[in-house]
Amino acid sequence: MDNKTALITGASSGIGKALAIEFAKDNWNLVIVARREQALETLAADLERDYRCKVQVIACDLTRSNAARALYDETRSRNIVVDCLVNNAGRGTFGEWLGQDPGFNEDTIALNVVALTTLSHLYARDMVQRELGYILNIASIAAFVPGPNHAVYHATKAFVLSFSEALATELKGTGVSVTASCPGPTKSEFFERSGSTKVKALQHTPIMDAETVALEAYQAMLKGEPVKVHGLLNKLIVQSPRLLPKGWIAPMVKRLTA
Ligand SMILES: NC(=O)c1ccc[n+]([C@@H]2O[C@H](COP(=O)([O-])OP(=O)(O)OC[C@H]3O[C@@H](n4cnc5c(N)ncnc54)[C@H](OP(=O)(O)O)[C@@H]3O)[C@@H](O)[C@H]2O)c1
Repeated sequence: MDNKTALITGASSGIGKALAIEFAKDNWNLVIVARREQALETLAADLERDYRCKVQVIACDLTRSNAARALYDETRSRNIVVDCLVNNAGRGTFGEWLGQDPGFNEDTIALNVVALTTLSHLYARDMVQRELGYILNIASIAAFVPGPNHAVYHATKAFVLSFSEALATELKGTGVSVTASCPGPTKSEFFERSGSTKVKALQHTPIMDAETVALEAYQAMLKGEPVKVHGLLNKLIVQSPRLLPKGWIAPMVKRLTA
């Protein structure tokens, strides 16, 4: 992918960092985005040393209002043509919804939903004009079921999946593909940060490596697959709403994720 550039949000750790490595292996130039600038600078230096790629760093907080527009404007002012947008930055919510800080939930929606939607809009317009582009949105298996104890998180990921599938259909024939990647539990900073390391289901389910998820997501994106669920067990789990009575699903998720 010489001379092609991918912008990856949330590249300072976890799946986003693993994705940046996967793209760099294939010689994509990169724009890596997150709040922790030093982590991004270190990753950029490592990638430029190990692979044939140029990496630019943009540190920003995507929960801020207008952050997506400011990020888009920054790439324009640096004359960067973004051929692939990876909306990976995201965070979880954990605990009974009524007890949560509404501001924290608003920021989660701003990050997981608003920034992703606006970035997709701004970059997809340019991609459609060039008749070439990829959008890879990191959703989750949480997208398939309501999530008591993680209500806002599951709802944001349901948005990401629904939005991505709709966009993939609207953009068919334009040269721009849209892929929603749906990982299950994956090794990263995610559970620590959302305070959900003790969730029951995590003690009993296999946890995938960020590297495996990143490779599969990257390959699905190149093939233009609209939805990629990672891992056999996760493929079964996402079928549960089809197989079980609707009224069973939310209470079952509640028990598993307490
Ligand atoms: N781990 C899992 O089990 C799992 C399962 C399904 C889906 N996912 C999804 O995978 C994606 C990546 O998560 P991860 O598991 O790799 O977790 P992670 O290690 O916590 O990575 C999250 C990334 O998002 C960035 N980020 C967080 N808040 C941000 C903000 N306000 N502005 C800009 N960037 C921000 C973080 O960087 P900074 O802190 O430096 O800003 C970090 O690079 C998320 O969308 C998550 O929902 C994860």
